[in-house]
Amino acid sequence: MNRRWRLQLGALAVVGAWGLLPLVAEAVTGSHNMSSKAPGGQVCIVCHAPHGVPKSPLLWNHVLSANNYSWSDWVKTTGDTTLPTNIQSWSGSTKMCLSCHDGTVALGALADGTVFDTRKMTGHNLITTPSGDLKGNHPVAIPYPYNRVKNTYNGITTGDLAMQSGWVATPTKVKIYIDAAGGANNRGIECASCHDPHGTANPNYLRDSTSGSALCLDCHTK
Ligand code: HEC
Ligand code: HEC
Ligand code: HEC
Ligand code: HEC
Repeated sequence: MNRRWRLQLGALAVVGAWGLLPLVAEAVTGSHNMSSKAPGGQVCIVCHAPHGVPKSPLLWNHVLSANNYSWSDWVKTTGDTTLPTNIQSWSGSTKMCLSCHDGTVALGALADGTVFDTRKMTGHNLITTPSGDLKGNHPVAIPYPYNRVKNTYNGITTGDLAMQSGWVATPTKVKIYIDAAGGANNRGIECASCHDPHGTANPNYLRDSTSGSALCLDCHTK
């Protein structure tokens, strides 16, 4: 049954429980749908579980890496914003992506000790070195100059020089996060600002197209 046909059935409201299941399974697309090996054929369980997870934020169910991430060749951005050196201790979701994408933890390692897939990330999808060096990657887990003013995110404040750059005041297509302090000027960016791990219509789970650098221009005005 193709997607269009299923959606038409949905519109007619004649879908039984059996008809809804394939739609749910499609909610997570591509490489991130590991349901063919996961316990009970579940899609979400590799990343989230409703009970018994060791950490509440995002009900995270995948074993986290022991790495403390940093950039070996960079301490501050050219905007004079300090780069993070211990993303692990922070509340944002970047460390969750890196729990698979730093190559140190088995892809199917769940919080309860189950390991349904022992392979580890290799190749071009590996984002850090084995010791957690983020060298060569766009900054993450750092403040976004939301509303074109300095923001403080996870204890880091936007540098003076970054305020000379052009910024979209309130980005919409990408996702800007808020930290535990919760104020109007506590906004920042994570891997998931640019990527939606559940899938999008664009390649690489990107939240916007890279054609004409649209994605970059969702935040930068130059
Ligand atoms: C490959 C890992 C992965 C899988 C599989 C996954 N998620 Fe997520 N999910 C994440 C990450 C990382 C975040 C945090 C980033 C964000 O804000 O989207 C998240 C955030 C969420 C959120 C809160 C933020 C939001 O988007 O509303 C919900 C709800 C959620 N996931 C539901 C689900 C459900 C339901 C499934 C299964 C159908 C699922 N996820 C499968 C990784 C995953
Ligand atoms: C549970 C493990 C896991 C988590 C958590 C996870 N990924 Fe992945 N990701 C994978 C696997 C497996 C692949 C495919 C790797 C391969 O084929 O080499 C992949 C591939 C990708 C790709 C390449 C596109 C594709 O379809 O192959 C992108 C982009 C990506 N992930 C981004 C993210 C981001 C961003 C996060 C956090 C928001 C994240 N991933 C969290 C396991 C994970
Ligand atoms: C500022 C936006 C942005 C942020 C933040 C970002 N990415 Fe990406 N990512 C991209 C774009 C654009 C691409 C596709 C172009 C490319 O391959 O360079 C990509 C590609 C990828 C790929 C596929 C690599 C390949 O060679 O096929 C993976 C995996 C990935 N990102 C993971 C991550 C992870 C993990 C983080 C956080 C540490 C992250 N991304 C943060 C924009 C971003
Ligand atoms: C979700 C918002 C967002 C998106 C999308 C985004 N950026 Fe950024 N970018 C930032 C933030 C925030 C900074 C850090 C600014 C600071 O405080 O110095 C930054 C910094 C930079 C820097 C400066 C790094 C340095 O050496 O100081 C460059 C270059 C850059 N981004 C390029 C890009 C490109 C290219 C893209 C598209 C692939 C992109 N950005 C997409 C938010 C974003």
